[in-house]
Amino acid sequence: MNPDEIIQAESALIVPTYLRPPMVLTHGEGAYLFDAEGKRYLDFAAGIAVNALGHSDSEWARVVAEQARVLTHVSNLYHTAPHIELAQRLVQNSFGDRVFFCNSGSEANETAIKFARKWARQKDDDKTGLVAFTGSFHGRTIGALSLTAKNKYREPFAPLMPDVVLSPFNDLAAAREAITARTCAVVVEPVQGEGGIQPAEPAFLQGLRQLCDQNGALLVFDEVQCGLGRTGYLWAHQAYDVTPDIMTLAKPLAGGLPIGATLVTEAIAQVMQPGDHGSTFAAGPLVCRAAQVVFDRINQPEFLANVRANGEYLLGRLRKLPSTKVVQVRGAGLFVGVEFSESVKPLVAAAAERGLLIINAGENVLRLCPPLIITREQIDTALDTIGDCLKDF
Ligand SMILES: Cc1ncc(COP(=O)(O)O)c(C=O)c1O
Repeated sequence: MNPDEIIQAESALIVPTYLRPPMVLTHGEGAYLFDAEGKRYLDFAAGIAVNALGHSDSEWARVVAEQARVLTHVSNLYHTAPHIELAQRLVQNSFGDRVFFCNSGSEANETAIKFARKWARQKDDDKTGLVAFTGSFHGRTIGALSLTAKNKYREPFAPLMPDVVLSPFNDLAAAREAITARTCAVVVEPVQGEGGIQPAEPAFLQGLRQLCDQNGALLVFDEVQCGLGRTGYLWAHQAYDVTPDIMTLAKPLAGGLPIGATLVTEAIAQVMQPGDHGSTFAAGPLVCRAAQVVFDRINQPEFLANVRANGEYLLGRLRKLPSTKVVQVRGAGLFVGVEFSESVKPLVAAAAERGLLIINAGENVLRLCPPLIITREQIDTALDTIGDCLKDF
C-alpha cells in the first residue's frame, strides 16, 4: 500500500480516537524517524516519552531478537529468569521492596488503586477514598480515568469510580482538607506530563508525605512519564527528597515494548495473596530482557548527568525564544514545556512540515521530550526549527 492508501484505509478501518498528521512512518534510527517518502524527522516526541534510547538501538534490537528466538511468552503461571532479573534492578535501585509487572501506565495505576484499597481494608472497611489533583493524567481505564482531571476525558464515560477527590495541584492547604482518615491513597505525578509539564513544588510533595503519614494513607507517585531518567534523575522524586509508598512506571521502561510496573513497600505487598491480581501478558521474557537493556543504560551516573546538562541547555535556549507569545518555559531534564498564550497546534504542524516532531501537552503547551540520547547538535537543530516556525506563528 502506498502512503495515501494507508491513510485512506485507516479512516475506514480504525476507530477514530486519534488525529494523525498525514505521513506514514516506516523506520527510525537514533533520534530520527523516516516516512514512506524518505523524509527525515528529528524526533522530539519519542513516542510520548517512551523511546528513551531512540529508535533501533543496536544492543536493544540484538537482545530482543535473541530473546525472541528463545522464549517470548509463557504467562505468569511459570517462573522465568528475565522477570526476576528486571525486578532485581528495580528493587535494588528504588525505595520499593517488591514489584508487580503489567503492560501499560493505566494498568500500573489500576494496580496501585487495587493494592491501596486492599492494604487499607486491613485497617478499616471504610478507608476507600482516593485523592488526586487538577492537571493530572493517570490513564484511560475507568479507575485511572477517575484519578485523571480533564473533563473532556471523563465526561463521556461517567459514572466513573466513586470515592475520588480531585484537589488543586500544588495547593497544600486544599490537600489538607481533601486528605482524611478515610483516604487510602494520594496519587500524584511529581512532574505532571499531560497537564502541561508542571513540576510539583517541593513543599507540596513534602506536605503530601506528612498528610499521608498523619492520616494513615499511602503516597503514590505516578512516574509513568517523568520517571526512569526523563528528568535527569533515575526517579523524578529523587530531586524532591520525598519517598512514596507506591510508584508506577511504564512508558520508557522497555524501550518501546509495552510494559508497566508498580513498585511497593513490603507492608503493602504482604496484603496481596495469590489470585488477588494478575495480567496475562505481563513480564514476559521478551519485554523483560528489553527493559534490562534500557534500565542498565539509563542507570549510569554519566548518562543521567548528561540528561540534566542537556536539559539545562534546552531550557536555556528555549528561554531565549524571540516570541511575545511565550508565557512560561518550565521542566526538568529532558522533560520541558513551553506555554504559549494560544493553541500550539499550528506550531506542531509547522514543525513537522520542517522535519521536527514535537507534541503538545494540553492546548497551549509545547512538550519537548526527545530520546534521552539526544545530542547538543540535535537540540540546536530543533531550536533553530522552532525559532523558524515562530516567525509565522
Ligand atoms: C503520568 C501518566 N500516567 C499514566 C499514563 C497512562 O499510560 P498508558 O497510556 O500507558 O496507559 C500516562 C500516559 O500518558 C501518563 O503520562
